[in-house]
Order: sequence, then C-alpha cells, then structure tokens
Amino acid sequence: MYSPIQLPEWQQLQQHQARIATQHMRHWFASDPQRFQRFSLSLGDILFDYSKNIITEETLTLLVQLANAAHLQQKIIDLFRGQAINTSENRPALHTALRNYKDSTLLLNGHNILSSIQGMHKKMYACIEKIRMQQWLGVTGQPIKYIVNVGIGGSHLGPMMALHALADFSSTQLQCHFVSNIDSAHLYEVLDCIQPESTLFIISSKSFTTIETLTHAQTIRQWLQQQLGTNNLTAHFIAITAAAEKAQQFGIPETHIFPLWDWVGGRYSVWSAMGLPLALMIGIENFSQFLQGAQDADQHFQEAAFINNIPVLMGLLSIWYTNFFSSHAHVVTPYSHRLHFLPHYLQQTEMESNGKNSMRDGSPITYKTGPVLFGGQGNDGQHAYHQLLHQGTHLIPTDFILVANSHHKQDPHQDILIASALSQAQAMMQGKTYAEILQEALANGLTDEEAAKLAKHKQLPGNRPSNTLFMKKITPRNLGTLLALYEHKIFVEGVLWNINSFDQWGVELGKQLLPPILDCLTGIAESANLDSSTLGLITHYKKQDDDSI
Ligand code: F6P
Repeated sequence: MYSPIQLPEWQQLQQHQARIATQHMRHWFASDPQRFQRFSLSLGDILFDYSKNIITEETLTLLVQLANAAHLQQKIIDLFRGQAINTSENRPALHTALRNYKDSTLLLNGHNILSSIQGMHKKMYACIEKIRMQQWLGVTGQPIKYIVNVGIGGSHLGPMMALHALADFSSTQLQCHFVSNIDSAHLYEVLDCIQPESTLFIISSKSFTTIETLTHAQTIRQWLQQQLGTNNLTAHFIAITAAAEKAQQFGIPETHIFPLWDWVGGRYSVWSAMGLPLALMIGIENFSQFLQGAQDADQHFQEAAFINNIPVLMGLLSIWYTNFFSSHAHVVTPYSHRLHFLPHYLQQTEMESNGKNSMRDGSPITYKTGPVLFGGQGNDGQHAYHQLLHQGTHLIPTDFILVANSHHKQDPHQDILIASALSQAQAMMQGKTYAEILQEALANGLTDEEAAKLAKHKQLPGNRPSNTLFMKKITPRNLGTLLALYEHKIFVEGVLWNINSFDQWGVELGKQLLPPILDCLTGIAESANLDSSTLGLITHYKKQDDDSI
C-alpha cells in the first residue's frame, strides 16, 4: 500500500524544506516585485493569492511531483466518475453529480443518477414554488411563513451557513430558523418566535436515526398537536432523508419526503435536497446559480494543470505545512459578516473528512493528517486569537477570505474591513525585527536598557504563511465556487495522505455509548460496567436540583 512518506518525492521535499526553512518571505518579496503575479490565480470572481507562503518555484514543482506520484489525476477522475472511493463503506462520493449540468448520463450500477437528481430537483422546485406562491397551506388554512430546519452536522451546517452568506438574496416573505442542538433551549428559542399554524418543519437527516434530530421532531410534533389541537399535521412536516421508510414511520407521507442517496456524504450534501431551506429562501434561480458556481470549481479542478489548479495548490500547501513544518492547525478567517459561519461549516468538512489515523487499507498512519481547523470572522479574531498567530510558538497557516463589495455600502467600513485583513496578512508575513523595534523605541525616547527589554517582547518573527481568497461579491455563484474549492482541497489532502476522506467511523463509539448512559441517568437501568468517572458524574448529576436557580 502506498505510504506517502516512503516516496522519493517526499524525501526530496524534506531536503528542500531544510534548505528554505531558514529563509524569510520578507526577503523574497523585497527581491522579487513580481512575486504576487507569479503566485496568484483567478477563477471567475475569485482571486487566489498564495504568494505569502514559504514557497519558491522549486517547492511547487516538488509538491506537484508528489501529487503525481500519488496519482492525483487518476483519483480526480475516479471521484467524478463515481468509483467506490469510499472504500470502508464501498460506495462512491458523488456530490459533484448534484451540480453536474454538463452531462446527461452518469451511470451508477446501471442507473443514470443524473435523471434521479433531475427528479429530485423537480420535486424540490415544485415545493418551493408552492410555498413561495403561498399555496402550501397549514392545517388551519394559513400559508407558510416560517421554515424551521431540524438537523445537525451535515444536515444543518451547509444550509445554515449558506443562508447567512446569502442573506441579501433571501425572501422577505419567509423566515427560516435552524434547530440543531439537543438542548431544548435551542428548540424553544425558535418555537418562541414562530406561529405554529404557518410553520413548516423540515426534518433533515440522511439516516433518520440521529438522536438529536429525532428527539426534536417528536417534541415538535407534540407541541404542534397542543398548539393546533389536531393530529393532522401532515402539512407541517417535510423530511429530507436517504431512509424514506423511517420518515414514513414517523408519519411523513412519501409526497413530503425528499430523497438523498448513500453516495452523498452528509458534509457534502448542501447541493442536494438538504439545500431545500436555502433554496426556499433564495429562490430556484439563485439556488441553480449556487450549483453552477460549484460546477465552475469542479471543471477547474478537473481541467487545470496542477500548477495552476487552485484546490490542488490549496491541498498541497496544507500538506507542506502539516507534514514538513509540523503545523497542527489551520485558520480560516472570513472578513465578511455574512460568511461568519463558514469556519464552522469547514470544520466539519475538513475535520470529519481528514481526521483519520489509518490508511485506505487500514494500515496505521505514522505521519500527521488533517489539521485542527478553527477561525471566525475577521476583525473579531484580531482582538482575540490573532496574538497567537503572530507570536505564538505554533505555525498556523491562515486563509483570509475577503469580499470586495459589500451589499451594504457604508463609508468607511468596507475599506477598513479590507485594510484590516491585508494588514494582518502583511504582519504575519513580514513580522517586525528586534532591530526595527529597538530603533522605534529609542526614537520614542526610551533608554537603551528600556528599549532593549521592550524589543524582546515586541518582536514578531513573521514568515507566517497565509492564502488570500478575494471574492468580488458574495453571490450564489461565487459562494458555490468557494465551497467547492474547499471540498476539492480536502480531497487532495486525503489522496496525498492516502486516507478515506468520506467515512467518519470515529463518531460512532460515542453514539453507541450514549443509550446505556442515558438509561442510567433516567433510572431505567442500573449503572453496569461504567468507569468511576462516568459513574461519579452520573451520581453527581442525579443529586443536582435546580431549586436554587
Ligand atoms: O455524527 C456525525 C454525522 O453522522 C455526520 O456525518 C452527519 O452530517 C450528522 O451526523 C447528521 O447525520 P444525519 O443526517 O444522518 O442525521
């Protein structure tokens, strides 16, 4: 089985890293005024500047050679053709088919899945029309005004993030809310601001077994029964699921069930019927544009030479820092309020996909894989965790995501926003030397001793890498492109690490351990075979009462 670290290309990169790690980007920028032109690319309305990385032309050549040695091109073909690349579950990962407007046929086990997708779109779009035309009526005859998506993980983050991003394209007639956390505070926060007679609940769960989602669904049904005084609640529920029979058992009729397929991973499902809340709010044309934008990225990923291929370069740069600079984390910081849930969304996409410790054949991995992804909207981060990015002892590559045109133009906000991002990226790249700070301090009247002491604390090493993804404006199409670029970046990482990016077995044990613990908490069962910590905490929990609150 292929192990990347045994490849000669890997060893060449290690040697190359040792040669350039002592060099500083600030000198490269000073000696090469064309560095930005040489290390930036565009795709549609998105500019990708990767010049502030610890790379030379040679680095990229070696990284591309590594990608070739890992047969990346063939793996990309396999992804799009529907090979069973999710080997532990023996299925393809065909989220790209959901936005494939180019072809008319894509056969999977002899069945044309593109026609199934068209059928799903037809059903989705008919439902959207009906709701937006106020023809979908609740049990009391009221048109739908409130949409509540009930789901978690991939059945929540994608539509929730995208809807915030595209708030400027949203219907003003409809309101959309999301409930994910099992904490009933989340549920009642939403129930408190809707009217039951004009609310449609979308129960989004690929498996239709997820405890958080199903518990909410049951509580919502009881609440609706009480509020509306009827058990006839069909008009108030829709399900999006790959387990139609389970949704039907819950009481949702087949006509209200939107399909999903096992070849769409939850975290890659925003393009599917899981995108229904988004499509309802932004409308069919905008949702199609969103899919089209993703297809633009798909086409670029399939066709561009690796050296000019944005997701390939993003993935290779991630490998570069994770495996050759021992970097453990990656920051994504959108300088856009609209994109403030993007890091949350990417956290699942990246960490559930590439947080793996075995190779595709099950052999243990002896090198680092998926980094910890964190972040938040720019400016806020500057006043919180950026200190660590500038002076901490970890090397944390950062993606700055900028949006040139705001839907809310107000001087001087937008220029300050953009200048903030650029100054942070510049500070990370160039740093500030001891000598520069010393000189500044002396010029400010400090004594030699005071200046020397202060300079030790104030110096910034710089040479901290970042990418800048600069979008012209947040539109459905541009958002689609951006998200698909990240999906493909994650795919590239997975291929090079030789892991299966499309399963998530790590989350299963916790799910298995929950029911017996729940039985202990509720007194249904005696606590058997529990460790002393879990047992101690259960006992503690049972002794708590909330009288004092
Ligand atoms: O627990 C993780 C997970 O399985 C994710 O992969 C998935 O997106 C989420 O739970 C929700 O699953 P479902 O859509 O089946 O409710």
